[in-house]
Amino acid sequence: MNSDSKNRIECLREQLHTHNYNYYVLNQPTISDIEFDQKLKELQDLESQYPEFFDSNSPTMRVGSDISEGFKQVAHKYPMLSLSNTYSESEVTEFYERTKKLINEDVELVCELKYDGTSISLTYENGNLIQAITRGDGEKGDDVTVNVKTIRSIPLKLSGSGYPALFEIRGEILMPWQVFDDLNKEREAQEEQLFANPRNAASGTLKLQNSSEVAKRKLDAYLYYMLGESLPGKTHFENLQKAKSWGFKISEATKVCKSLQEVFDFINYWDKERKNLAVATDGIVIKVNSLLQQMNLGYTAKSPRWAIAYKFQAEQACTRLNSVSFQVGRTGAVTPVANLDPVQLSGTTVKRASLHNASIIEGLDLHIGDMVFVEKGGEIIPKIVGIDKQARLLLGDKVKFIKKCPECGTELIRVEGEAAHYCPNEEGCPPQLKGKIEHFVSRKAMNITAGVETVEQLFDKGYIRNIADLYTLRWEDLLLLERWGEKSAKNLIQSIENSKLVPFERVLFGLGIRYVGETVAKKLALTLHNIEALETVSFEELITIEEIGDRIARSILDFFANQNNQKLVNRLKSYGLNFQIDEQKVVKSSNKLDGKSIVISGTFAKYSRDELKIMVEQHGGKNVASVSAKTDFILAGENMGPSKLEKAQKLGVKLITENDFLMMIE
Ligand code: IVH
Repeated sequence: MNSDSKNRIECLREQLHTHNYNYYVLNQPTISDIEFDQKLKELQDLESQYPEFFDSNSPTMRVGSDISEGFKQVAHKYPMLSLSNTYSESEVTEFYERTKKLINEDVELVCELKYDGTSISLTYENGNLIQAITRGDGEKGDDVTVNVKTIRSIPLKLSGSGYPALFEIRGEILMPWQVFDDLNKEREAQEEQLFANPRNAASGTLKLQNSSEVAKRKLDAYLYYMLGESLPGKTHFENLQKAKSWGFKISEATKVCKSLQEVFDFINYWDKERKNLAVATDGIVIKVNSLLQQMNLGYTAKSPRWAIAYKFQAEQACTRLNSVSFQVGRTGAVTPVANLDPVQLSGTTVKRASLHNASIIEGLDLHIGDMVFVEKGGEIIPKIVGIDKQARLLLGDKVKFIKKCPECGTELIRVEGEAAHYCPNEEGCPPQLKGKIEHFVSRKAMNITAGVETVEQLFDKGYIRNIADLYTLRWEDLLLLERWGEKSAKNLIQSIENSKLVPFERVLFGLGIRYVGETVAKKLALTLHNIEALETVSFEELITIEEIGDRIARSILDFFANQNNQKLVNRLKSYGLNFQIDEQKVVKSSNKLDGKSIVISGTFAKYSRDELKIMVEQHGGKNVASVSAKTDFILAGENMGPSKLEKAQKLGVKLITENDFLMMIE
């Protein structure tokens, strides 16, 4: 029986590796998503039933886990250097001539796209991915292996044959444009800070402490450089072709060029064509193909002499600045936006551009009527990068950052060390008030079926001024407004009523305390259990909670120190909203785990990790974060952290399954 299951596990792993490759590297899936998910589920079930067959490179590792382990710093075996940049064809010619002269031979060049992401170095041993390290300072980087394993186009196990027993392969981790746009839309809706470009988004994602979150972000990767003692080919291009045959994603654009003209043709072709690619590129990389020649050319302190980058010009357009408007968000932050004469840029019409903050406006010495250069550096909103001062005929008014809120007239403030200006009139500034209500009703908070337009209408008609007013609405009153019928009015009231069942952590998130996002709200609820504890907690206590630093702690204390917020919370309490976590979750139910130190690791079929943590406490046990000789046992789920597993095995700490645990506390 046991060996049957082992065979099945191995067979499923192999199949899933192949399907992953077909889908994410070749873009040619051979089975449906449903079939894939079924196989993955079957494998997950078998692996949790038979933890003895654990494999740190199983396809199930792709889903990640929410265990934060921090990143170890690891020294690079070969330093990760950068490339020297060129911006013109003449500089490329110089590189070519210099190279030929240095080695006194003809050289063959390879042209590649310069992918604009975050670089990574992968180490494979006997065909298995064993380590993934970021560039860091070039000498040492962060070990982000758990996160990299969630990237479907990176093979966990190599296929084919002829790969060296040990080698490194380097490449770029990328967030495709589409994923980037979706992610930023989601962040905008949550009033979270937007990523400026896919490169920042990719590197930010790679550094997340929660690999299941990384898995959701759908990163991609191209590999472009193999290193090791016994590489298969004599040329860079041959090695890349081999790497391709082992399952790596190698760019189809990569091309051997026999003359400088071919290099220029490559540059010109891709300068246009790159706009149709799914990922960002910012230039091309030109490399000497022969590895022997590469070795003879060697390195300068910073970069190889056998390669250079040619950077594409960022696309710019020139247009007139008509006016600057200032927008106020939910948190009171004021953003300056330039209104422009419409102009075409990278396939879209641009009418507005971001001006970021007061220092940027000042730095540009901007005047109304100026001809300005706009650039799309990967940002969603283009930015103004300069002024054509020659084109200034008449000097318009100098653009000054406003002193008073454009919505309510309150004097703006600028917190020291922060770039943004804020309107402090939290209780009276309409966009802030409306924004807070929109946030409160949103799906991830109270999930009340009122969109932006409804909130706007109810606010403008004076029906609601704050989130508590929602609970005094009557359906009969809604009928007096435009667009409302009995059915829609009753539905809204019912949805407001239903929100009283929303769990405490989401109510807390809905309050819109600055810097308290979903995760922080969850942590607070789980640690402090109810709002009374939160109202009286000290700064020192707050910062002992995981993920809560000085900035968040101060913001929470400020929120509850404000009398208007206290009144608001009291009103919400009186309407029956949930201000404590489910009692059942905290009441002690037995002494069965008294004195036991328990580590919970991985993901589970029946309960979430947070629920299991509560159960441990309910039965007298203590949750601890890391495995030590004092750990009594590990409640091990799917995708348990490999370092925890290794440590457990070394120290002889027992692993138990979710079912064992449930029986134990029954
Ligand atoms: S080769 C010794 N090839 O550009 C340098 N780099 O400025 C080996 N990059 O850190 C790098 N696409 O992150 C190489 N096709 C490509 C590349 C590429 C993007 C990045 C890489 C590197 C940076 C150098």
